[in-house]
Amino acid sequence: MHDGDWDRVWINAHLATMAPGDDGYGVVPDAAIAVKGESIAWIGPAATAARLAARAGVPTHDAKGLWITPGLIDCHTHIVHGGNRVAEFEQRLHGASYEEIARAGGGIQSTVRATRGETDEALRASAGRRIRRLLAEGVTTIEIKSGYGLDEATERRMLGVARGIAREWPVSVRTTYLGLHALPAEYRADRGAYVEAASGAWLERIVASGLADAVDAFCESIAFTPAETARFLGAAQRAGLPIHVHAGQLSDLGAAELAASYGALSADHLEYVGADGVRALAAAGTVAVLLPCAYFTLRQRDPPPVDALRAAGVRIAVATDCNPGTSPCTSILLALAMACTAFGLTPVEALRGATANAARALGVAHDRGTLEVGKRADFALWAIDRPAELCYALGANPCVGVVHRGRPRATGSEP
Ligand code: NIG
Ligand code: FE
Repeated sequence: MHDGDWDRVWINAHLATMAPGDDGYGVVPDAAIAVKGESIAWIGPAATAARLAARAGVPTHDAKGLWITPGLIDCHTHIVHGGNRVAEFEQRLHGASYEEIARAGGGIQSTVRATRGETDEALRASAGRRIRRLLAEGVTTIEIKSGYGLDEATERRMLGVARGIAREWPVSVRTTYLGLHALPAEYRADRGAYVEAASGAWLERIVASGLADAVDAFCESIAFTPAETARFLGAAQRAGLPIHVHAGQLSDLGAAELAASYGALSADHLEYVGADGVRALAAAGTVAVLLPCAYFTLRQRDPPPVDALRAAGVRIAVATDCNPGTSPCTSILLALAMACTAFGLTPVEALRGATANAARALGVAHDRGTLEVGKRADFALWAIDRPAELCYALGANPCVGVVHRGRPRATGSEP
């Protein structure tokens, strides 16, 4: 391929490449970005690109001073689920705690009942309504967890619906089998049997049918112990699946250390993680995925130890945690704003958290998360004056265009 052998090119844009090399946004001002097939073919000065494109007759989009970032990556969601939990939201505002509601059979269990009771079509439709809002904000890759089935058939249905989203919408999906999310009511008398089933035959068959790209477990006082979690993670590791762990959301059970000991791609939440956990994450290269909208919804007081994570060199990602209980949030931009204001990330850290580091958290950094030649042509166009605006405005959506796998999709607000 030679310069100018492109399918399309965007000129007169400012790029925030998020590529390694400096601590900033990787800004390339007055630039152009050209696409061939599904990949980025060329990045360079707009004037050069315009000349080459004109000579070769390449379709050319004049970005007129817009900013272009990598497509945003929401690396932690539970976007496929039945029903909602607005009644619990009201209960919490009357004083009940998340843990109390969970122990009384609500919480995750109530979404399990709703999810089991819905058809695939209904799950697809409600997820689609949420997906549409995320895509409008420049999201091009989304991670989707199961975990509201807690029986083999419904876990598989959830993963199947998640896979189907990538066929129905212009977005790439990574699926995660969240086999240990809560103990389902029918196993209350025999926790061990549930852990064995979820870690054994179900996992084996889910792997065999290619439904999951990774696994996840909720290691917490109201969910699963470190020993139970270790049983599940060990099985996943033997099956060759990458690992995520819900760690330190409500208490410190040593889940971050456990995640790191299994070489997890990510440990998520981390409001309660101690110095040992931070050290372990750093040593293992595990990404810390911060979920400020869950923190906000649960009205938590102590944010994750961002200074310690930063000082230890742990890579930090930011995601919506879109779920009906702790984070009824379909705005990645709101998550970025809250990561800055509530957790103290800088805007560049927050944006890296939904691009380069989110790609790492999903194990897809080889082809996504930065604007670099050879990577996937996934990017978003923004009507902003500087990148920090993506973390600044609350409730605004400056996304005016999205390119997914080299193909422009309709503007951000109408995916
Ligand atoms: O990420 N912590 C566990 N899982 C979800 C909450 C699930 C729910 O409440 O439905 C979370 O916060
Ligand atoms: Fe979650």
